[in-house]
Amino acid sequence: MASSLRLNSTLKLNDGLSIPRLGLGVYLTQSADAIKHALQFGYRHIDTAQWYENEEVVGEGFKASGMKREDVWITTKIWDTNHGYNQTTKTLDESLKKAGLDFFDLVLIHSPNPGKEKRLETYRALIDAKKQGKIKSAGVSNYGVHHIKELLAQFPNDPPSINQIEISPFFQRKDIVTECRKHNIALQAYSPLGKGAFVDRPELHKIGEKYKKSPAQVLIRWSLQQDFIVLPKSSNEERIKANADLYDFELSKQDIDTLNAMETGKGVTWDPTKAP
Ligand code: A2P
Repeated sequence: MASSLRLNSTLKLNDGLSIPRLGLGVYLTQSADAIKHALQFGYRHIDTAQWYENEEVVGEGFKASGMKREDVWITTKIWDTNHGYNQTTKTLDESLKKAGLDFFDLVLIHSPNPGKEKRLETYRALIDAKKQGKIKSAGVSNYGVHHIKELLAQFPNDPPSINQIEISPFFQRKDIVTECRKHNIALQAYSPLGKGAFVDRPELHKIGEKYKKSPAQVLIRWSLQQDFIVLPKSSNEERIKANADLYDFELSKQDIDTLNAMETGKGVTWDPTKAP
């Protein structure tokens, strides 16, 4: 069955912006070439963070790609130790400088771990940065249901556009997904491949064989068909290409049901969504 999704398909956010549905995760990537190749191959979205210490590398790769700034979506995230109004403002300026950019498309609070007061002040700084044109969109990451409720109670007129969390068929986060959807907050799925741990699973091979696709492609396609924005990470040119070769097939309802039945309730990374 032909797929209506394309590599340049976007999702409309609650602030009116359109974000590319597939992004390149760059945790641990220190190769500007990897970023350049991804953009030349057709990716239009790169997801970095202060914590990854590669905002410079992302900026370099973007410049080397020759792409126009308005054609590429670039996200960063405010790290836990940079929470608070002043520190967020200061380090956001530093991140822009490191990346060599005038603005970020999206800035997320990386985690709720620093506590209520800090995360609300951090978000206030992001809203002000948005008014100043330093960022286009403000969101959160690793927020649980209670963090989302807390944020919406404090900023009813400036809801986050996105919550980026670990999601895969093995860890579907239904409570968080339901809460975000109730408020039109888009979901970004990180570690869709379980940090690589899921790519040899025989049950995924079996599904993939029907479409001549790999387990990684099945997992990424599952995320797209759940209406998530998906962020597979790779710094390998071949795998970067393969992870975007998703648009000539569509998982059947039966295969989606089979994948949905793989829930384990456990993730493979940290889980700040339970932080007080
Ligand atoms: P590499 O960067 O060498 O490609 P996740 O996105 O779930 O965090 O997974 C990232 C991990 O999965 C990385 O170790 C990455 O390694 C590996 N990986 C990415 N794409 C593929 C793929 N298509 N097949 C196998 N492993 C992959």
